[in-house]
Amino acid sequence: MEPVVEDKIRQAFDEINSGKTLEGLEKLEALKSDGAEDHRIDFGRAVAMARLGRLEPAVGVLKVLVEKYPDFRQARDILTELEKVSGRPPAQVETSAVPALPQPTASPQPAAQPAIPAKQASAAPQASPQSVQTISRAEALKFAFYGPTLLTPSTLAKIAASTTVWQELLNWHAMLATDQYVAYVDAFYRQCLTQYGQHWFYLDITNVLYAASKLIQPKNYLEIGVRRGRSCCAVVRGCPTVDITACDMWIQNYAGMENPGPDFVFAEVQKHGFRGHFQVVNGNSHEMLPKFFSQNPGRTFDLITVDGDHTEQGAYQDLHDVLPHLAVGGAIVFDDISHPAHPYLLEVWRRAARECGFLATYEFAEQGYGVAFGIRVK
Ligand SMILES: C[S@@+](CC[C@H](N)C(=O)[O-])C[C@H]1O[C@@H](n2cnc3c(N)ncnc32)[C@H](O)[C@@H]1O
Repeated sequence: MEPVVEDKIRQAFDEINSGKTLEGLEKLEALKSDGAEDHRIDFGRAVAMARLGRLEPAVGVLKVLVEKYPDFRQARDILTELEKVSGRPPAQVETSAVPALPQPTASPQPAAQPAIPAKQASAAPQASPQSVQTISRAEALKFAFYGPTLLTPSTLAKIAASTTVWQELLNWHAMLATDQYVAYVDAFYRQCLTQYGQHWFYLDITNVLYAASKLIQPKNYLEIGVRRGRSCCAVVRGCPTVDITACDMWIQNYAGMENPGPDFVFAEVQKHGFRGHFQVVNGNSHEMLPKFFSQNPGRTFDLITVDGDHTEQGAYQDLHDVLPHLAVGGAIVFDDISHPAHPYLLEVWRRAARECGFLATYEFAEQGYGVAFGIRVK
């Protein structure tokens, strides 16, 4: 194998493994059309195509590969996974159906290796966890010197903005009830991810809610301001079994777009695999939520979104009403902190968070409409 071809294969695999799927695929396609022969070129093409939702060509390439190398286990395994899902529309295919791409190896049956090679073992003796601990890790954690929660808002932000989360999110994002705004953000996400790859850092209500839901696996979720169910669907994608309490007064023509109501939203979450209980609180949150909590005293939620009334007083009131009902370790998401039409929302968030005294917080306001979130630490 020419060193140049070897280098190009390696580069393409690195790109695919680091989220620059399209660039990696283009390199492999160029090698192929130059007549380069190597099983890794086809394997990499198939994995990249699958990640980009191009399932049929991926299956075709894998079939040829498996016929040629019947012992190529990884190719066979991915082919089996893809054949299971290729009957469904591409947006329904989870990235998890496509395993991490192995580093290129010379053998036609690459040994399973992690996408990121493990660190070389050092020659110095290593302390095993048991040799330094007299008590188990689970027991030690019960001392909770740093509080009862492990997840911090910065960790959540980092995970929400990771290439893995974007790749997963983009597998289903196009299925959200599209309006002009959703179509715009979909194109914006894809362009930024293509342009900046793993260095892209951006947060909004969708990736924050999806990541929070994946990480926390909430038993229940309260949302004020549901509209067409976009944010509910992000939560459902992260945790399909979550029970949803959805409060909205379904203001007609909200932000110039249709606001069809709870039946529409229920149908939307079902499209995304919802398996929990769906409760609707119809009406003005400022009347309905105090009533709801007086009827359900002590009720807590593991995840809450406040995205309803965007007036200064109304948004503060919603935060004030729901914060005492956020479970310890749970997360609250507050949208639009840098929306030009609501310049006071950042201060509303800061005030409510400060006053409750139990939130660790994070704000992203450098692009888009901005989002803030907090994790209840005590
Ligand atoms: C910005 S949209 C919600 C968007 C949704 N979270 C998403 O990400 O797709 C705001 C929604 O809040 C609702 N809303 C506004 N004021 C409200 C209030 N006082 N009580 C209940 N719902 C309200 C509107 O009807 C609208 O559907």
